[in-house]
Amino acid sequence: MATRFVRLTDHPLFSGALVLAFLAVLVLPGQTLLAQEAGADEDVTYTRDIAPIIQQNCQICHRPASVAPMSFMDYRDVRRYARRIKDQVARRLMPPYHYDTGNGIQDLKNDWRLSEEEIDAIVTWVDNGTPEGDLADMPEAMVWRDEQMWQQEDRLGPPDHVIKTLPFDVPADGGDMWWRPVVPTEMTSERWIRAMEVRPSFPAGRQVVHHANPKLLRLKDDGDYQPLGNLSEYAMGKIGEIVPEDAARLIKPGDKIEWDTHYYPMGYEVPGDQIELGIWFYPEGFEPQFTQNLRLYPLQGDIFLEPGGTSMTQGFYRWDHPVRIDSFQPHGHVHLHGMQIKAIYPDGKQEMLSMVSDFDARWHHSYIFDDDKAPLLPTGTVLVMTGWYENTADNPLTDSEMFYSRGSRTVDEMSHAWIAVSHLDEEGLERIETEREAKSKVTSEDGDGSN
Ligand code: HEC
Repeated sequence: MATRFVRLTDHPLFSGALVLAFLAVLVLPGQTLLAQEAGADEDVTYTRDIAPIIQQNCQICHRPASVAPMSFMDYRDVRRYARRIKDQVARRLMPPYHYDTGNGIQDLKNDWRLSEEEIDAIVTWVDNGTPEGDLADMPEAMVWRDEQMWQQEDRLGPPDHVIKTLPFDVPADGGDMWWRPVVPTEMTSERWIRAMEVRPSFPAGRQVVHHANPKLLRLKDDGDYQPLGNLSEYAMGKIGEIVPEDAARLIKPGDKIEWDTHYYPMGYEVPGDQIELGIWFYPEGFEPQFTQNLRLYPLQGDIFLEPGGTSMTQGFYRWDHPVRIDSFQPHGHVHLHGMQIKAIYPDGKQEMLSMVSDFDARWHHSYIFDDDKAPLLPTGTVLVMTGWYENTADNPLTDSEMFYSRGSRTVDEMSHAWIAVSHLDEEGLERIETEREAKSKVTSEDGDGSN
């Protein structure tokens, strides 16, 4: 995270000109069209309109001792960075979420994106010279929860089981560092997992841990271990992995965790750092309706990037039973520009499910679909994954004079998606479909269905 936050490309939808064009027709909440026409967007003030947006969407990272290099805790700080803030939010680069707006499924859990109205308010406020407004309008300061607490603790209490990495000494200086210890789970009985969360140490770990993925290894009869995919996946700012209520993942005695962690020195030593995995179980004896797993789905094809060149990879997957796609996370390095998943249903109909066209390797998100919107794929559906790569002067993260290909160093490329899948049967699929239909009827009878 020590590098400057740079975009890979502009998203054409959010070019400055277009945002301004939007503004001309947009009515901000609380304003009349007439006032807008009269040029009264001067009305947008820091205390009333902007502070709430910054508090709720930015301060979690932009405050002292958090991950961002600058603090947005008061008016002066925010005003000082106003132009950069406008630029970053108008291009949807901050908050760092990078999920396409208006493309594919839009209903996501823990969605960090600002609304169009919030973006427009910030742009207008900056264009109007960052007026402070009436101090009486200023919202109460945010109350930050105890930093030592697990994010899911409010909802679930402390975790039932905690598994740690082995201690790692993070030096003050240097580049990317990888730490992959294998540790026992210390499970004494088989349990179904309800939720998981990876937590770096606080405050130091919060800044130097770039990502940390605990992979589950299952002991086989022949004494070898079989990798079963990630249990969870942590990247800065991420909440834990929530397993949908009708599905669960199993953990057994003898299982091990292979950690895949990525540290980035931030200018001070962090001796003996440990990262924790917290696990919440369903009660003993619980039987889930479906099992769920999170695993890597590879995209094939040579990634051969000539100087100035581009490349594309694709992966195809078909299950022999119906499935529900619960989450999608693209994985690539600095050349990955975008990734998409698409369904080709047995009747030939195609649907684009999810798209990240401004991928940034420094922010890893698992985009978790809302329970009622997670795509259902009947038996025989083909999931098509497509990745696009860019080694051009437009991509500031690459040296576009060089050749690149597949590999595991940061400068090499990779191509896969992490996808959480609930494994259904025909009956389960039908039941979910019927429940969703019934729900959508209720909403449409309730009114216009909006919330
Ligand atoms: C999850 C953490 C996180 C959240 C949430 C977040 N930021 Fe950031 N932001 C960062 C980090 C980390 C950097 C430094 C990135 C870098 O420069 O490499 C950054 C950098 C920036 C920059 C400087 C970029 C540049 O190079 O000019 C601006 C401006 C910014 N953020 C604005 C915002 C605003 C406005 C919000 C809320 C609407 C926000 N950020 C939300 C983590 C966050």
